[in-house]
Amino acid sequence: MKKIIIAIDGHSSTGKSTIAKQLAKELEYIYVDTGAMYRAVTYYAMNNGFISEEHFDREGLIAQLNEIQLSFVFNEDKGYGEIYLNGKNIEEAIRTLRVSNFVSAVAAVPEVRKMQVKQQLELGKNKGIVMDGRDIGTVVFPEAELKIFMTASADTRAKRRYDELKAKGEKAQFAEVLKNIQERDYVDSNREDSPLKQAEDAVLIDNSNMGEKEQFAVVKQMALDKI
Ligand code: C5P
Repeated sequence: MKKIIIAIDGHSSTGKSTIAKQLAKELEYIYVDTGAMYRAVTYYAMNNGFISEEHFDREGLIAQLNEIQLSFVFNEDKGYGEIYLNGKNIEEAIRTLRVSNFVSAVAAVPEVRKMQVKQQLELGKNKGIVMDGRDIGTVVFPEAELKIFMTASADTRAKRRYDELKAKGEKAQFAEVLKNIQERDYVDSNREDSPLKQAEDAVLIDNSNMGEKEQFAVVKQMALDKI
């Protein structure tokens, strides 16, 4: 089977990673969650005094970027690679609403993006990869053989995210989750460096009224047509 690059971009909480993981498993491809990489840098910044409610010490973080080592380690049980920061598994720790509240500001820093994109290019150099994020089809792998852009209404996405957080036992208000999603959409789409936008050759999937199985069947067929 031919090895290709599959880029899945889109708005926050559209279920990109669920589809990407399923697809990678089906095709025996590597899955890379680039959102986890930006979340990991944010987590580092929060734990090392570069971010507080009042202040984001951008320059301080930039000066420390070479102290950040990210890697993905395959977890047999889960069937995908979990993210490690300087040797520590932070896969769960980066999924809090607090990290979500700061991540778009960190991801807008060009030095942060440059470092992440370098690693993403390395991870995808042998193809056979499903990568999800915001700029994969536009900036990281503009030559990707299959590009998908996922979206859904903000309300639908907030509801899904709220249910997920609740299921994990995190205290969250629906309004707060919705606000975070709308703010991230805005910052991600309006930043100067690599803004979130649909690549011209990406296939749009609006899954506001689509189930997971139906979506997966559609995406899988698109991939098989390219392979
Ligand atoms: O995908 P996820 O929602 O975990 O991504 C978290 C944040 O990381 C996004 O809201 C965005 O600010 C940033 N991001 C990005 N570029 C990517 C992936 C994520 O800027 N390729």
